[in-house]
Amino acid sequence: MPRLKYASILRVLLILGLFCVWVQIMLSATNGALDKDGDNILADILQTNLTNNEEPFTEELMNSNETSEQVLALVPPELHKYLTVHPRNSSANATERYSPKNVSDILRAVQRVNGAQTIYNEDLFGPVQNDTIIIAIQVHTRLTYLRHLIVSLAQAKDIDRTLLIFSHDYYDEEINNLVRSIDFTKVMQIFYPYSVQTHPLEFPGMDPNDCPRDAKLEQALKLKCNNALHPDLHGHYREAKYAQTKHHWWWKANRIFNQLQCTASHTGMVVFLEEDHYVAEDFIHILSLLRTTADKTCPQCEILCLGTYLKTYQYHSTSDKRKKHLTLNYIQQVRAISEERRKRQHDTQTWNYQVYPNLYANTQKVEITPWHSSMHNMGMVFNRTVWTNILELQEQFCAYDDYNWDYSLLHLSQNRPGREKFKVILCKGPRVFHIGECGFHHKKSNCNASTVISKVQKLLQDAKSYLFPARVTATISAGGAKHNKKLIKGNGGWGDLRDQELCTNMTRVERQMRKYIYYT
Ligand SMILES: *[C@@H]1O[C@H](CO)[C@@H](O)[C@H](O)[C@H]1NC(C)=O
Ligand SMILES: *[C@@H]1O[C@H](CO)[C@@H](O)[C@H](O)[C@H]1NC(C)=O
Ligand SMILES: *[C@@H]1O[C@H](CO)[C@@H](O)[C@H](O)[C@H]1NC(C)=O
Ligand SMILES: *[C@@H]1O[C@H](CO)[C@@H](O)[C@H](O)[C@H]1NC(C)=O
Ligand SMILES: *[C@@H]1O[C@H](CO)[C@@H](O)[C@H](O)[C@H]1NC(C)=O
Ligand SMILES: *[C@@H]1O[C@H](CO)[C@@H](O)[C@H](O)[C@H]1NC(C)=O
Ligand SMILES: *[C@@H]1O[C@H](CO)[C@@H](O)[C@H](O)[C@H]1NC(C)=O
Ligand SMILES: *[C@@H]1O[C@H](CO)[C@@H](O)[C@H](O)[C@H]1NC(C)=O
Ligand SMILES: *[C@@H]1O[C@H](CO)[C@@H](O)[C@H](O)[C@H]1NC(C)=O
Repeated sequence: MPRLKYASILRVLLILGLFCVWVQIMLSATNGALDKDGDNILADILQTNLTNNEEPFTEELMNSNETSEQVLALVPPELHKYLTVHPRNSSANATERYSPKNVSDILRAVQRVNGAQTIYNEDLFGPVQNDTIIIAIQVHTRLTYLRHLIVSLAQAKDIDRTLLIFSHDYYDEEINNLVRSIDFTKVMQIFYPYSVQTHPLEFPGMDPNDCPRDAKLEQALKLKCNNALHPDLHGHYREAKYAQTKHHWWWKANRIFNQLQCTASHTGMVVFLEEDHYVAEDFIHILSLLRTTADKTCPQCEILCLGTYLKTYQYHSTSDKRKKHLTLNYIQQVRAISEERRKRQHDTQTWNYQVYPNLYANTQKVEITPWHSSMHNMGMVFNRTVWTNILELQEQFCAYDDYNWDYSLLHLSQNRPGREKFKVILCKGPRVFHIGECGFHHKKSNCNASTVISKVQKLLQDAKSYLFPARVTATISAGGAKHNKKLIKGNGGWGDLRDQELCTNMTRVERQMRKYIYYT
C-alpha cells in the first residue's frame, strides 16, 4: 500500500498548497496592493507602522518640571538657566494664561518677526559668513526637550561660530523667551506662516467644510466637502496637523536657502535638527571630518548625517527577528509582527536601548551608503548646491502622496533623471540623538524625558575619551535591502491638491531683504 499512502500525502500537500494560494489571493484582495515577496510586505508594514507611531504632535505645550536631579547633576550650573521653568502666572485666569494673543495678533507678530529677520547676538559673534554652519531647528511645542537640546548645543565646541535658526510652527511667548535668552551664539527665529495655530478654521488648518478623514468617496461627494475628489491613496482625506510637518520642513528649507537676506551668498553646510534632538559636544568637529572625508573619498556624497535613531540601535535585533519570521508562512509572519507590535505598545521597557561599545573607539568609522529616509533623517546636513538639485525636482516632493518629508525626499532621490540616488556619509558613533522617543504615549510608563536624557548623558560621558577623534576611516557599503528598496507607494496623507499646491507655491517666493523695525 505504499503507493496509496504516497498518493494521499500528495493530495494533502496539493490541498494545502491550494489553500495557501487562496489565502494569498484573499489577502491581496483585502489589502489592495501587495508586493511580490514577503520581506517587502513585512518591510512595508513595519515601515508604515513606524511612521504611524512616530506621533510628532502633542496638543499640549509640553513644559513639565520633570528634570531630575540626576540629569541636572551633569549639566554645568551656568546652563541650568535654560532648564528653569518659570511658573506661569497662576493667579491670572485661564483665558489670560493660555491665549495671551488672539490669532490676528499672532499672525501680525509672525509677519513682523519674519520681516525683521533679526539675528540676535550678531554684535557679539560677528556676521554670518558664506561658510558659517547654519543649524536649522524645527520647533513645535515640546519645550522640555527643546531646553535640553539648547543645553547640549551650549556645550558643543565651536558653537559660537554657527547660526542657530529656530523655525517655529507654534507661537508661544515662553518658547520665544527661551530661544531669545540664548547667549552662546547667533540666533534667529523664523515662523512658518501657514500653521494650524494661525489658520484654525481654514486651509492649511482644518476648514469646517473639509471632508472627514474617514469619509468614503460617495459620502464625500454627497457632502460636497472640499476636495471630495482627492482622497489619498488609502482613500483618506487630509488631516491638517499631519500635513503640517512636511509643509513646515519644506518651507523652512526654502526660507533658509532662498529667502533670507543673510544667506544670499551662503555656500556652507546647513544642519537639520528637531526640537527633541540632543547633540554631542564634538558634533561640529565630526561634521568637518565628514566634510573633508567626503571631499577626498566620496565627492558624490551629497548628504552628511550625524545621527541614528536610538531605535536603530535595535535595528539588528529587529532584523534578526524578521529573518526568523521568514521561516514562517505569510499569515504567521503577519501575526508575529502584529503580536510584536502589540507587545511593544504594552511593554514599557522596549524603548530601552543598547549602544554597541565599538561605535565609539580610537579610529572612528564613517560609512558611505545610499541615503534612506527613516535611517538617515536625523542630523542631516547638506549645502545649497544639493538644495538646488532638490528644488529642480520639487514636483517629486510636493506631488508625492506621503505626508512624511523624509519619505518624500526618498522618493525624489529615487527618481532623479540621469542621476543616482543620494549617497550619505555618516558617522557610526552617533553625534545626534533622539531624546523625544517617549512623549505622551508613554506618560503612564516609566519612560520619561529625564530617563532618556540621562541615558544619553551617561553614554556621552562614557564615550568622552573617544570624542574629537583626529581622523576617521571610511567604509563603503551598498546598504541592506531596506536602503535600496524602491518605494512602491507613499504612506498617503497628501492626496489633497491644496497641499500639493501650497508646497509648490513655497518654492516661488523670492529673496526678501530685512525690514528694519524700530521698536518704541
Ligand atoms: C499600523 O498602526 C496603526 C495604528 O498605530 C494601525 O491602525 C494600522 O492598521 C497599522 N497598519 C498595519 C498595516 O498594520
Ligand atoms: C521646578 O522644580 C524646581 C526644583 O525641583 C523648583 O525649584 C521650581 O520651583 C519648580 N518650578 C515650577 C514651575 O514648578
Ligand atoms: C499675575 O496676574 C495677575 C492678574 O492678572 C496680575 O495682577 C499680576 O501682576 C500677575 N503677576 C505676575 C508676576 O505677572
Ligand atoms: C478672565 O479674564 C478675561 C479677560 O481679562 C475676562 O474677560 C474674564 O471675565 C475673566 N474670567 C474670570 C472667570 O475671571
Ligand atoms: C485681538 O486682540 C486685540 C487686542 O489684544 C484686539 O484689538 C483685536 O480686536 C482682537 N482681534 C480679534 C479678531 O478678536
Ligand atoms: C567666501 O567669501 C570670501 C570673502 O568674503 C571669498 O574670498 C570666498 O571665496 C567665499 N567663498 C565661497 C565658497 O564662496
Ligand atoms: C556642497 O556639497 C557638494 C556635495 O556634497 C560638494 O560637492 C560641494 O563641494 C559643496 N559645496 C561647497 C561650496 O562646499
Ligand atoms: C522620571 O524618571 C526619573 C529617573 O528614573 C525619576 O527620578 C522621576 O521621578 C521620573 N519623573 C516622572 C514625572 O515620572
Ligand atoms: C498658490 O499660489 C496661487 C497664485 O499666487 C494662489 O492663487 C493659490 O491660492 C495658492 N495656493 C495655495 C494652496 O496656497
